[in-house]
Amino acid sequence: MRSADRLANFGAYFFAELGKKIAALRAQGKDIIRIDIGAPDLPPPDFVIEALVAAARRPDTHSYTTYGGTPAFKQAVADYYRRRFDVALDPTTEVLGLIGSKEGLFHLAQALVNPGDVVLIPDPGYPTYRAGTLLAGGEPYFMPLLAENDFLPDLEAIPAEVLRRAKILWLNYPNNPTAAVAPLAFFEQAVAFARKHGILLAHDAPYVDVTFDGYQAPSLMQVPGAKDVAVEFNSLSKAFNMAGWRLGMMVGNPAVVRYVHVYKSQVDTSQFLPVLQGGIVALTDERVWPWVAERNAVYQQRRDIVVNALRAAGIPVPTPRASLYVWYPLPPGETDSKAFCARALEEAGVSMTPGRIFGPHGEGYVRVSLGTDTAQLQQAMERLTAWLKK
Ligand SMILES: Cc1ncc(COP(=O)(O)O)c(C=O)c1O
Repeated sequence: MRSADRLANFGAYFFAELGKKIAALRAQGKDIIRIDIGAPDLPPPDFVIEALVAAARRPDTHSYTTYGGTPAFKQAVADYYRRRFDVALDPTTEVLGLIGSKEGLFHLAQALVNPGDVVLIPDPGYPTYRAGTLLAGGEPYFMPLLAENDFLPDLEAIPAEVLRRAKILWLNYPNNPTAAVAPLAFFEQAVAFARKHGILLAHDAPYVDVTFDGYQAPSLMQVPGAKDVAVEFNSLSKAFNMAGWRLGMMVGNPAVVRYVHVYKSQVDTSQFLPVLQGGIVALTDERVWPWVAERNAVYQQRRDIVVNALRAAGIPVPTPRASLYVWYPLPPGETDSKAFCARALEEAGVSMTPGRIFGPHGEGYVRVSLGTDTAQLQQAMERLTAWLKK
Protein backbone atom coordinates (compact mmCIF):
# COMPACT_ATOMS: atom_id res chain seq x y z
CA MET A 1 0.00 0.00 0.00
CA ARG A 2 1.47 3.40 -0.97
CA SER A 3 1.03 6.51 1.14
CA ALA A 4 -0.52 9.68 -0.25
CA ASP A 5 1.97 11.91 -2.10
CA ARG A 6 1.50 14.64 0.48
CA LEU A 7 3.35 12.52 3.04
CA ALA A 8 6.48 12.42 0.87
CA ASN A 9 8.07 15.37 2.70
CA PHE A 10 7.83 13.67 6.08
CA GLY A 11 10.13 11.08 7.57
CA ALA A 12 10.01 9.58 11.03
CA TYR A 13 9.52 12.15 13.80
CA PHE A 14 12.90 12.88 15.41
CA PHE A 15 11.76 12.21 18.97
CA ALA A 16 10.12 8.90 18.00
CA GLU A 17 13.45 7.69 16.57
CA LEU A 18 15.40 9.04 19.53
CA GLY A 19 13.03 7.22 21.91
CA LYS A 20 13.76 3.93 20.14
CA LYS A 21 17.51 4.51 20.30
CA ILE A 22 17.33 5.30 24.02
CA ALA A 23 15.20 2.20 24.68
CA ALA A 24 17.84 0.08 22.90
CA LEU A 25 20.68 1.63 24.94
CA ARG A 26 18.76 1.10 28.18
CA ALA A 27 18.10 -2.53 27.20
CA GLN A 28 21.89 -2.92 27.02
CA GLY A 29 22.07 -1.68 30.62
CA LYS A 30 23.18 1.90 29.86
CA ASP A 31 21.97 4.62 32.20
CA ILE A 32 20.61 7.50 30.10
CA ILE A 33 19.42 10.87 31.42
CA ARG A 34 17.03 12.65 29.08
CA ILE A 35 17.29 16.42 28.94
CA ASP A 36 15.91 16.57 25.40
CA ILE A 37 12.13 16.60 25.85
CA GLY A 38 10.29 19.93 25.87
CA ALA A 39 7.62 18.89 28.35
CA PRO A 40 7.13 19.71 32.04
CA ASP A 41 8.07 16.86 34.41
CA LEU A 42 6.00 18.18 37.33
CA PRO A 43 2.20 17.83 37.81
CA PRO A 44 -0.46 20.56 37.54
CA PRO A 45 -1.80 22.19 40.74
CA ASP A 46 -3.84 19.86 42.98
CA PHE A 47 -6.90 22.08 42.82
CA VAL A 48 -6.93 21.74 39.02
CA ILE A 49 -6.77 17.94 39.23
CA GLU A 50 -9.56 18.02 41.82
CA ALA A 51 -11.76 20.03 39.45
CA LEU A 52 -11.20 17.41 36.73
CA VAL A 53 -12.02 14.54 39.09
CA ALA A 54 -15.12 16.25 40.52
CA ALA A 55 -16.42 16.92 37.00
CA ALA A 56 -15.67 13.36 35.90
CA ARG A 57 -17.77 12.01 38.80
CA ARG A 58 -20.85 13.85 37.58
CA PRO A 59 -23.21 11.83 35.38
CA ASP A 60 -23.85 14.71 32.99
CA THR A 61 -20.26 15.35 31.82
CA HIS A 62 -19.62 12.34 29.60
CA SER A 63 -21.30 13.26 26.36
CA TYR A 64 -19.96 15.32 23.44
CA THR A 65 -19.15 18.92 24.27
CA THR A 66 -19.57 22.10 22.26
CA TYR A 67 -17.31 22.40 19.18
CA GLY A 68 -14.26 24.56 19.82
CA GLY A 69 -14.68 24.62 23.62
CA THR A 70 -17.65 25.36 25.88
CA PRO A 71 -18.82 28.97 26.39
CA ALA A 72 -17.51 28.71 29.99
CA PHE A 73 -14.02 27.68 28.78
CA LYS A 74 -13.93 30.54 26.25
CA GLN A 75 -15.02 32.95 28.98
CA ALA A 76 -12.19 31.62 31.18
CA VAL A 77 -9.71 32.31 28.36
CA ALA A 78 -11.04 35.87 28.06
CA ASP A 79 -10.79 36.29 31.86
CA TYR A 80 -7.18 35.04 31.79
CA TYR A 81 -6.25 37.52 29.01
CA ARG A 82 -7.87 40.35 30.98
CA ARG A 83 -6.16 39.36 34.26
CA ARG A 84 -2.75 38.53 32.81
CA PHE A 85 -2.35 41.06 29.94
CA ASP A 86 -5.15 43.60 30.42
CA VAL A 87 -6.46 42.57 27.01
CA ALA A 88 -10.21 42.47 26.28
CA LEU A 89 -11.47 39.57 24.15
CA ASP A 90 -15.01 38.73 23.08
CA PRO A 91 -15.31 35.08 24.12
CA THR A 92 -17.97 34.37 21.52
CA THR A 93 -16.04 35.58 18.47
CA GLU A 94 -12.39 36.07 19.42
CA VAL A 95 -11.60 32.85 21.31
CA LEU A 96 -11.40 29.23 20.19
CA GLY A 97 -10.61 26.25 22.42
CA LEU A 98 -8.02 23.84 21.03
CA ILE A 99 -6.98 20.25 21.72
CA GLY A 100 -3.49 21.54 22.61
CA SER A 101 -2.13 24.48 20.65
CA LYS A 102 -0.32 22.20 18.17
CA GLU A 103 -3.54 21.34 16.37
CA GLY A 104 -4.37 25.02 16.00
CA LEU A 105 -0.95 25.82 14.53
CA PHE A 106 -1.54 23.08 12.00
CA HIS A 107 -5.18 23.94 11.28
CA LEU A 108 -4.38 27.60 10.66
CA ALA A 109 -2.56 26.67 7.47
CA GLN A 110 -5.36 24.32 6.38
CA ALA A 111 -7.92 27.07 6.95
CA LEU A 112 -6.03 29.91 5.22
CA VAL A 113 -3.35 28.71 2.80
CA ASN A 114 -3.91 27.95 -0.87
CA PRO A 115 -1.37 26.13 -3.03
CA GLY A 116 1.36 28.59 -3.96
CA ASP A 117 0.81 30.87 -0.95
CA VAL A 118 3.95 31.61 1.03
CA VAL A 119 4.17 31.17 4.81
CA LEU A 120 6.98 33.00 6.63
CA ILE A 121 8.50 30.71 9.24
CA PRO A 122 11.28 31.22 11.80
CA ASP A 123 14.42 29.09 11.37
CA PRO A 124 15.14 27.49 13.80
CA GLY A 125 11.52 26.90 14.79
CA TYR A 126 8.87 24.53 16.08
CA PRO A 127 8.32 21.96 13.27
CA THR A 128 4.51 22.29 13.02
CA TYR A 129 4.65 25.68 11.22
CA ARG A 130 6.46 24.00 8.33
CA ALA A 131 4.46 20.76 8.44
CA GLY A 132 1.10 22.58 8.37
CA THR A 133 2.27 24.76 5.49
CA LEU A 134 3.50 21.86 3.37
CA LEU A 135 0.40 19.74 3.99
CA ALA A 136 -1.78 22.69 2.90
CA GLY A 137 0.23 22.98 -0.35
CA GLY A 138 1.89 26.23 0.76
CA GLU A 139 5.48 27.28 0.33
CA PRO A 140 7.57 27.86 3.45
CA TYR A 141 9.96 30.82 3.42
CA PHE A 142 12.40 30.57 6.31
CA MET A 143 13.42 33.67 8.27
CA PRO A 144 16.77 33.12 10.00
CA LEU A 145 16.85 33.75 13.74
CA LEU A 146 20.43 34.87 14.42
CA ALA A 147 22.20 35.46 17.73
CA GLU A 148 23.37 38.88 16.50
CA ASN A 149 19.71 39.93 16.10
CA ASP A 150 18.72 38.51 19.52
CA PHE A 151 17.00 35.67 17.65
CA LEU A 152 14.36 38.04 16.23
CA PRO A 153 13.66 37.79 12.47
CA ASP A 154 14.79 40.66 10.25
CA LEU A 155 11.42 41.42 8.63
CA GLU A 156 12.88 44.05 6.29
CA ALA A 157 15.19 41.42 4.77
CA ILE A 158 12.25 39.43 3.34
CA PRO A 159 12.26 39.94 -0.46
CA ALA A 160 9.33 41.94 -1.91
CA GLU A 161 8.46 39.10 -4.27
CA VAL A 162 8.06 36.73 -1.31
CA LEU A 163 6.02 39.26 0.66
CA ARG A 164 3.61 39.67 -2.24
CA ARG A 165 2.67 35.99 -2.00
CA ALA A 166 2.90 35.71 1.78
CA LYS A 167 -0.24 34.81 3.70
CA ILE A 168 0.97 34.10 7.26
CA LEU A 169 3.94 35.34 9.30
CA TRP A 170 4.79 33.10 12.27
CA LEU A 171 6.42 34.37 15.45
CA ASN A 172 7.07 32.49 18.71
CA TYR A 173 8.20 34.25 21.90
CA PRO A 174 9.37 33.19 24.42
CA ASN A 175 11.02 31.09 21.76
CA ASN A 176 11.49 27.40 21.27
CA PRO A 177 14.29 26.42 20.74
CA THR A 178 16.42 29.56 21.27
CA ALA A 179 14.83 30.67 24.60
CA ALA A 180 14.85 34.25 23.25
CA VAL A 181 12.22 36.76 24.32
CA ALA A 182 10.72 39.62 22.30
CA PRO A 183 10.04 43.11 23.64
CA LEU A 184 6.59 44.60 23.08
CA ALA A 185 8.26 47.12 20.72
CA PHE A 186 9.13 44.25 18.36
CA PHE A 187 5.50 43.07 18.41
CA GLU A 188 4.42 46.62 17.55
CA GLN A 189 6.74 46.63 14.53
CA ALA A 190 5.48 43.18 13.49
CA VAL A 191 1.83 44.30 13.68
CA ALA A 192 2.62 47.38 11.56
CA PHE A 193 4.53 45.19 9.09
CA ALA A 194 1.65 42.69 8.81
CA ARG A 195 -0.81 45.54 8.28
CA LYS A 196 1.35 47.17 5.59
CA HIS A 197 1.79 43.93 3.63
CA GLY A 198 -1.68 42.40 4.17
CA ILE A 199 -0.31 39.32 5.98
CA LEU A 200 -1.82 37.49 8.96
CA LEU A 201 0.52 37.62 11.93
CA ALA A 202 0.33 34.37 13.93
CA HIS A 203 2.01 34.38 17.32
CA ASP A 204 2.64 31.09 19.10
CA ALA A 205 3.00 31.82 22.82
CA PRO A 206 2.90 28.61 24.90
CA TYR A 207 5.82 29.75 27.11
CA VAL A 208 4.41 33.16 27.98
CA ASP A 209 4.00 32.15 31.64
CA VAL A 210 7.30 30.27 31.96
CA THR A 211 9.55 33.17 32.93
CA PHE A 212 12.41 33.89 35.34
CA ASP A 213 13.98 36.69 37.39
CA GLY A 214 10.66 38.58 37.57
CA TYR A 215 10.43 38.93 33.78
CA GLN A 216 6.83 39.16 32.45
CA ALA A 217 6.49 38.13 28.81
CA PRO A 218 4.04 40.22 26.77
CA SER A 219 1.15 39.00 24.63
CA LEU A 220 1.02 40.15 21.02
CA MET A 221 -2.60 41.07 21.76
CA GLN A 222 -1.35 43.95 23.93
CA VAL A 223 -0.45 45.86 20.77
CA PRO A 224 -3.32 48.26 19.92
CA GLY A 225 -5.08 47.05 16.77
CA ALA A 226 -3.40 43.61 16.87
CA LYS A 227 -6.74 41.89 16.41
CA ASP A 228 -7.10 43.50 12.96
CA VAL A 229 -4.16 41.51 11.62
CA ALA A 230 -3.18 38.88 14.15
CA VAL A 231 -4.04 35.77 16.11
CA GLU A 232 -2.25 34.31 19.11
CA PHE A 233 -1.98 30.68 20.18
CA ASN A 234 -1.58 29.83 23.83
CA SER A 235 -1.58 26.62 25.80
CA LEU A 236 -2.08 25.16 29.24
CA SER A 237 0.64 22.58 28.52
CA LYS A 238 3.66 24.52 29.75
CA ALA A 239 1.97 27.28 31.77
CA PHE A 240 0.24 24.85 34.13
CA ASN A 241 2.10 21.54 33.52
CA MET A 242 -0.91 20.14 31.65
CA ALA A 243 0.77 18.90 28.44
CA GLY A 244 -1.02 15.54 28.41
CA TRP A 245 -4.43 17.13 28.96
CA ARG A 246 -4.29 18.64 25.45
CA LEU A 247 -5.76 22.01 26.15
CA GLY A 248 -4.95 25.22 24.32
CA MET A 249 -6.55 28.25 22.76
CA MET A 250 -6.44 30.61 19.81
CA VAL A 251 -7.46 34.24 20.23
CA GLY A 252 -7.64 37.37 18.12
CA ASN A 253 -8.95 38.20 14.65
CA PRO A 254 -12.61 37.05 14.59
CA ALA A 255 -12.66 36.10 10.89
CA VAL A 256 -9.60 33.87 11.31
CA VAL A 257 -11.01 32.39 14.53
CA ARG A 258 -14.14 31.53 12.53
CA TYR A 259 -12.21 29.92 9.64
CA VAL A 260 -10.22 27.70 12.00
CA HIS A 261 -13.42 26.82 13.85
CA VAL A 262 -15.10 25.79 10.57
CA TYR A 263 -12.09 23.61 9.63
CA LYS A 264 -11.74 22.17 13.10
CA SER A 265 -15.40 21.21 13.45
CA GLN A 266 -14.92 18.92 10.44
CA VAL A 267 -11.97 17.24 12.16
CA ASP A 268 -12.78 16.74 15.85
CA THR A 269 -15.59 16.81 18.37
CA SER A 270 -13.92 18.85 21.12
CA GLN A 271 -12.59 17.62 24.47
CA PHE A 272 -13.83 15.67 27.43
CA LEU A 273 -15.80 18.18 29.53
CA PRO A 274 -13.90 17.47 32.81
CA VAL A 275 -10.67 18.43 31.01
CA LEU A 276 -12.24 21.75 30.06
CA GLN A 277 -13.50 22.17 33.65
CA GLY A 278 -9.97 21.65 34.99
CA GLY A 279 -8.73 24.16 32.40
CA ILE A 280 -11.26 26.76 33.56
CA VAL A 281 -9.94 26.46 37.11
CA ALA A 282 -6.30 26.73 35.94
CA LEU A 283 -7.08 29.87 33.94
CA THR A 284 -9.20 31.67 36.52
CA ASP A 285 -8.45 30.51 40.09
CA GLU A 286 -6.27 33.09 41.87
CA ARG A 287 -4.36 30.30 43.64
CA VAL A 288 -2.71 29.51 40.31
CA TRP A 289 -0.44 32.57 40.30
CA PRO A 290 1.55 31.76 43.46
CA TRP A 291 1.74 28.20 42.11
CA VAL A 292 3.18 29.48 38.78
CA ALA A 293 5.73 31.59 40.68
CA GLU A 294 6.87 28.57 42.71
CA ARG A 295 7.05 26.33 39.66
CA ASN A 296 9.05 28.97 37.75
CA ALA A 297 11.47 29.18 40.70
CA VAL A 298 12.13 25.45 40.24
CA TYR A 299 12.90 25.98 36.53
CA GLN A 300 15.03 29.01 37.35
CA GLN A 301 17.17 26.93 39.70
CA ARG A 302 17.55 24.29 36.97
CA ARG A 303 18.40 26.97 34.41
CA ASP A 304 21.20 28.17 36.71
CA ILE A 305 22.55 24.63 37.08
CA VAL A 306 22.74 24.25 33.29
CA VAL A 307 24.11 27.71 32.52
CA ASN A 308 26.74 27.57 35.28
CA ALA A 309 27.92 24.10 34.22
CA LEU A 310 28.22 25.12 30.57
CA ARG A 311 30.10 28.31 31.42
CA ALA A 312 32.46 26.38 33.71
CA ALA A 313 33.14 24.13 30.70
CA GLY A 314 34.10 27.20 28.65
CA ILE A 315 30.87 27.37 26.60
CA PRO A 316 29.50 30.91 26.44
CA VAL A 317 25.75 30.87 26.95
CA PRO A 318 23.31 33.71 27.64
CA THR A 319 21.02 33.43 30.67
CA PRO A 320 17.49 32.72 29.39
CA ARG A 321 14.70 34.86 30.86
CA ALA A 322 11.93 32.50 29.80
CA SER A 323 10.95 29.17 28.17
CA LEU A 324 11.82 25.63 29.13
CA TYR A 325 15.19 25.64 27.38
CA VAL A 326 18.86 26.55 27.34
CA TRP A 327 20.24 26.97 23.81
CA TYR A 328 23.99 26.69 23.74
CA PRO A 329 26.59 26.85 20.96
CA LEU A 330 28.59 23.72 20.14
CA PRO A 331 32.00 23.58 21.82
CA PRO A 332 34.95 24.74 19.68
CA GLY A 333 35.93 22.19 17.04
CA GLU A 334 32.41 20.70 16.81
CA THR A 335 30.37 21.55 13.72
CA ASP A 336 27.64 18.92 13.53
CA SER A 337 24.97 19.10 16.26
CA LYS A 338 23.43 15.72 15.39
CA ALA A 339 26.80 13.95 15.54
CA PHE A 340 27.69 15.79 18.79
CA CYS A 341 24.40 14.81 20.49
CA ALA A 342 24.67 11.21 19.25
CA ARG A 343 28.17 10.96 20.83
CA ALA A 344 27.01 12.62 24.08
CA LEU A 345 24.19 10.06 24.25
CA GLU A 346 26.39 7.02 23.69
CA GLU A 347 29.52 8.12 25.56
CA ALA A 348 28.15 10.31 28.40
CA GLY A 349 24.64 8.85 28.70
CA VAL A 350 23.06 12.30 28.27
CA SER A 351 20.34 12.86 25.68
CA MET A 352 20.06 16.42 24.32
CA THR A 353 18.35 17.81 21.21
CA PRO A 354 20.53 18.78 18.24
CA GLY A 355 19.78 22.32 17.03
CA ARG A 356 19.74 21.13 13.41
CA ILE A 357 16.38 19.41 13.82
CA PHE A 358 14.74 22.85 14.21
CA GLY A 359 16.05 24.04 10.82
CA PRO A 360 19.35 24.81 9.06
CA HIS A 361 19.99 27.89 11.24
CA GLY A 362 19.73 25.68 14.32
CA GLU A 363 22.98 24.02 13.26
CA GLY A 364 25.81 24.89 15.60
CA TYR A 365 23.55 24.74 18.69
CA VAL A 366 22.18 22.26 21.19
CA ARG A 367 18.92 22.51 23.16
CA VAL A 368 18.74 21.42 26.78
CA SER A 369 15.30 21.11 28.37
CA LEU A 370 14.64 22.16 31.97
CA GLY A 371 11.75 19.69 32.26
CA THR A 372 13.83 17.08 34.10
CA ASP A 373 14.05 16.41 37.84
CA THR A 374 16.60 18.81 39.39
CA ALA A 375 18.93 16.14 40.83
CA GLN A 376 18.91 14.26 37.52
CA LEU A 377 19.62 17.44 35.60
CA GLN A 378 22.53 18.20 37.93
CA GLN A 379 23.88 14.72 37.31
CA ALA A 380 23.45 15.10 33.55
CA MET A 381 25.45 18.33 33.59
CA GLU A 382 28.20 16.70 35.67
CA ARG A 383 28.42 13.85 33.17
CA LEU A 384 28.39 16.23 30.24
CA THR A 385 31.10 18.54 31.55
CA ALA A 386 33.34 15.57 32.56
CA TRP A 387 32.87 14.13 29.04
CA LEU A 388 33.65 17.49 27.40
CA LYS A 389 36.97 17.65 29.30
CA LYS A 390 38.12 14.32 27.84
C1 LIG B 1 6.70 26.57 20.32
C2 LIG B 1 5.68 25.54 20.62
N1 LIG B 1 4.46 25.69 20.13
C3 LIG B 1 3.49 24.79 20.39
C4 LIG B 1 3.74 23.67 21.14
C5 LIG B 1 2.62 22.68 21.34
O1 LIG B 1 2.10 22.73 22.59
P1 LIG B 1 0.68 22.06 22.94
O2 LIG B 1 0.15 21.42 21.70
O3 LIG B 1 0.98 21.06 23.98
O4 LIG B 1 -0.18 23.17 23.38
C6 LIG B 1 5.01 23.47 21.66
C7 LIG B 1 5.30 22.24 22.44
O5 LIG B 1 6.42 21.86 22.67
C8 LIG B 1 6.01 24.42 21.39
O6 LIG B 1 7.25 24.29 21.86
